[in-house]
Amino acid sequence: MSVVTTKKDRVLSGMQPSGALHIGNWMGALDNWVRLQDVYNSYFMVADFHSLTTGYHDTRQLPDMVFNMVVDWLAAGLDPARSVIFRQSMVPQHAELHLLLSMITPLGWLERVPSYKEKLKELAQRDIHTYGFLGYPVLMSSDIILYQAKKVPVGQDQVPHVELTREIVRRFNGLYGDVLVEPEAVLTEVRVLPGLDGKKMSKSYGNTLTLGERSDSVTQKIRVMMTDPARVRRSDPGHPEVCPAFSLHKVFSASSVVDEVDQSCRHATIGCVDCKMLLASALNLKLDPVRDRREEWKAHPAQVEEILQDGAQEAQRVAQETMDEVEEAMHLKGLK
Ligand code: TRP
Ligand code: SF4
Repeated sequence: MSVVTTKKDRVLSGMQPSGALHIGNWMGALDNWVRLQDVYNSYFMVADFHSLTTGYHDTRQLPDMVFNMVVDWLAAGLDPARSVIFRQSMVPQHAELHLLLSMITPLGWLERVPSYKEKLKELAQRDIHTYGFLGYPVLMSSDIILYQAKKVPVGQDQVPHVELTREIVRRFNGLYGDVLVEPEAVLTEVRVLPGLDGKKMSKSYGNTLTLGERSDSVTQKIRVMMTDPARVRRSDPGHPEVCPAFSLHKVFSASSVVDEVDQSCRHATIGCVDCKMLLASALNLKLDPVRDRREEWKAHPAQVEEILQDGAQEAQRVAQETMDEVEEAMHLKGLK
């Protein structure tokens, strides 16, 4: 039996440029993108306009952040021959569609987006009581709509934004005719990795391992990472289900190793340091090729730039098709 994939449907996703990615970003999103690029007509975007909504104060790091993130994408296996890799600000249609959609988006819809109030609180020290920050979901809707993407692979936290996109599409189509496609969020099996301290892995907690982390640093950080707190002595039986090192084992180690660790932990026949050293070698084995490719791309910034230029060109082509239809539907073109 052969499975025919037409690779017709378009998929779009994006990530804000936050600099070097960590293994949580890798397993949570990026690795999934790498698989999608063989199945769909894939567009992956560096959402640099988005990062301005909360980080407009100082933009000097932006070029570095963009470069480092794209390098990580390429190192993890995104392939410019199989997907369109581009930077949002290099495709002016994002700003144009954002403007038009902002005209038809009621304020109430934006104020109701759960992440809006949460972020305002979370980032109380930055002044993000701005028009741009409130409009963040309109910008994201523009990203999705420009590529008429049917599927949008995102994490749970972004689902309300895709829902809002659907509402905006319905409103647009109601006002100006059936032009835009309603997208759907695709939630992948969520793999939220614990950080070294057992909390969710996140750059802001300082509990991460980056994709470019040197192998001796990986080993050292894993050696001292948190384990089951009930295992005080080597002879105390452990509970893998509450151990963050075990959660990482499940993602990075072979299943035979995972089963063995599970049993030896419960019977206290393995010590935590030995167990974590097994984890460190499994992780280093997976990271080796990624680190190599990362170094390679880092040494060739002109090629990375070229990938973004080519990506922007292809993105613009598709985005302009949508803009033509939108402008026509809104009677923004021509005098008759
Ligand atoms: N807002 C997303 C995030 O912070 C990134 C993003 C921007 C995005 N535009 C998008 C994701 C379009 C999916 C589709 O993670
Ligand atoms: Fe965690 Fe391994 Fe220690 Fe068990 S033996 S508590 S799984 S580190």
